[in-house]
Amino acid sequence: MSLIKKLELSPYRTLGKAQTARERSLEDVIETVREKVLESHAGLVMEARLSRAKRNEVVALVSELIVSGELYVGRLTRKDLAERIVQELCGLGPIDEFLDDPTVTEVMVNGPHEVYVERDGVIHKTSARFSDERHVLELINRIVGSAGRRVDQSSPYVDARLPDGSRVNAVIPPLSLTGPVLTIRRFPRRYSTLDEIVSLETVTRQAAKFLKACVDARLDIVVSGGSGTGKTTTLNVLANLFREDERVIVIEDSSELKLSLDHVIYLQTRPESVEGKGRVTIRDLLRNALRMRPDRLIIGECRGAETFDLIAAMNTGHEGCLSTVHANSTRDCLSRLTAMALMAHESVPLNVLESWIGAAVDVVVQQARVDSGARRVVEISLVGVSRGEVKTVPVYDAQRSLSGAELPDFFSSKVRPEVSETLKKALDNLNGGDAS
Ligand SMILES: Nc1ncnc2c1ncn2[C@@H]1O[C@H](COP(=O)(O)OP(=O)(O)OP(=O)(O)O)[C@@H](O)[C@H]1O
Ligand SMILES: [Mg+2]
Repeated sequence: MSLIKKLELSPYRTLGKAQTARERSLEDVIETVREKVLESHAGLVMEARLSRAKRNEVVALVSELIVSGELYVGRLTRKDLAERIVQELCGLGPIDEFLDDPTVTEVMVNGPHEVYVERDGVIHKTSARFSDERHVLELINRIVGSAGRRVDQSSPYVDARLPDGSRVNAVIPPLSLTGPVLTIRRFPRRYSTLDEIVSLETVTRQAAKFLKACVDARLDIVVSGGSGTGKTTTLNVLANLFREDERVIVIEDSSELKLSLDHVIYLQTRPESVEGKGRVTIRDLLRNALRMRPDRLIIGECRGAETFDLIAAMNTGHEGCLSTVHANSTRDCLSRLTAMALMAHESVPLNVLESWIGAAVDVVVQQARVDSGARRVVEISLVGVSRGEVKTVPVYDAQRSLSGAELPDFFSSKVRPEVSETLKKALDNLNGGDAS
């Protein structure tokens, strides 16, 4: 039963009492207040759906409108009336409580009868239920609609980012056979410094120092890992090590990265309009970014043909680029990059593309999620080409101790002598040198 229906049946409703000029139905009052609030504070309402503090701001705003408009409904106190209106404006129904809960990092609605949440990296099934598929669909459209996106028969899946940074994905029938599926990754607690991820034991202090040396040396780094393994977080941490005087251009599908640097330009792709026009891809943005005098380029995630252009940029003097790739090992990461670059130019021979990627990418940082839910850098490998073959040499492995790993020849010949010297020192330190 809808909230409005429930209220109509409520014993507090002044049934039989003649309505005064200002006494209105709850529905009517909600509509009046909703219009006023959305007119001037649509963004705040959206944020309030995911943030308790913002919700309180909406309660204050609505209370003001109730007082100034002298609105009342039956015997509802102003406070109750304000709360009911805010619930209608900002509520997300059965998943409300999870979005209020700071320990929940992900909310997953698999059709009307299954809602899962992730806490501390572990997934739990909840008892929350929606009434039917329409109920889920309504919620999806409310959420993605306020981020300017939509989902319907003609575009049955959608990605959106909410104002608080949370990421939303929805896919509906006929693509989903499970009914409408909604996945909300709560605005993640962004660990933004090396010290933070060292204290989470994602990387050892020595490995962190080595990564810093790689960033300082302007190496091209790809963070690789499965889904939700913390790739974007590590990318964010590495990017925060850039020098303040560098001009950084960040290109993403849906904006996630937030750098604590001054000179950063964030670009985001655009899906096509209802008429099928105006689509702007990562590839388009990357090509444009090359004309923006970047010192550093970041592609949030390589997923397709843009890989070709990123590799081209890395090979033509754009040093110190960063990106992430969805892959389960360093080797897999390089194969994925090759396959994706091939999407752009199928006529380029595979071996040419491979050695081109080997020449472009300097370091692969492999991430994984361990059973406890923690995220780990499991391997750091140097990449290069030797006698036409792509070589990868792990210099850090979280499981095996790699003492004695040296800077491989193929790598020394790939970088400038001073970079090679710096990296040799960083490697010595990584191999059990000073633990400070
Ligand atoms: N080093 C870390 N330690 C603990 N939790 C982390 C760490 N890095 C990321 N997380 C958490 O893991 C979740 C996923 O992080 P992130 O978005 O960085 O992963 P991802 O690999 O980029 O995911 P996707 O595959 O969706 O792109 C977030 O909730 C984040 O807070
Ligand atoms: Mg990511």
